Amino acid sequence: MRILKLAREYAREFHPLCDFNHEAPFKEGDRINYAGRVYDEEEIANLVEASLEFWLTPGRFARDFERGIARAIGVASAFYCSSGSAANLLAVSALTSPLLGDRRLLRGDEVITAAAGFPTTVFPIVQNGAIPVFVDIAMPTYNINVAQLENAVSHKTKAVVLVHTLGNPFDISAVKACCQKYNLWLIEDNCDAFGSEYTLAGETKPTGSFGDIGTLSFYPPHHITTGGGGAVFTSNPLLAKSCLVSAIGGAIALVQAALITRAGGTF
Ligand SMILES: Cc1ncc(COP(=O)(O)O)c(C=O)c1O
Repeated sequence: MRILKLAREYAREFHPLCDFNHEAPFKEGDRINYAGRVYDEEEIANLVEASLEFWLTPGRFARDFERGIARAIGVASAFYCSSGSAANLLAVSALTSPLLGDRRLLRGDEVITAAAGFPTTVFPIVQNGAIPVFVDIAMPTYNINVAQLENAVSHKTKAVVLVHTLGNPFDISAVKACCQKYNLWLIEDNCDAFGSEYTLAGETKPTGSFGDIGTLSFYPPHHITTGGGGAVFTSNPLLAKSCLVSAIGGAIALVQAALITRAGGTF
């Protein structure tokens, strides 16, 4: 298509180096970016094509992206959403589904998480009426100190929600063993760890694929970006259904809140 050819030409002329020039040798005094945009004319052409399609809800690009994410992590399904925080909210909310029977997360149940983490790893636990139980971290990884994990389990514990801090996998082997022993759900907040791998029982797999549900953030400072955005993913068909139901439930709640606000009420 002519317009896409022109977009590529434009990119070559006006975006020649992105934020990183991998060709240029590093010189003392050069700025070292901790993050930056790495893209080329294909991204610019895709951007133009998606805009011209003018599909205002998730369309073919989002569906392709979801399939790509599921393939990259090695899970059955991935769902694109508005942020990593939204992905964490969907993941924890999915655990409250009646589809899960006795293992369903109820108000007043406990969810174990780490004392140092991201705010929106913890908020979804509180938003769903559950109680976060904090376990300290260990230096130098800033990941959960697994020696203290089992002490935090009570008869009210239903799940463990943990971040792979700064991309360094937590001790998945110990955490999974504890979850299996006490029949707990495991959610991996994988927002900082896209591309990290872990070896368990001789098998090396991407982080995010070891728990029952995993999440990603595509906010720009992360490994790949969609501008903003996130994904929630799982290989458990029941949890996949619960994630979708939570997303629909959230949308209905927003519409209800908007209607109540318009009608001058409170919620
Ligand atoms: C570990 C972790 N979880 C969740 C999030 C939230 O992602 P978002 O900013 O897309 O809402 C972030 C964001 O940086 C994060 O680092």
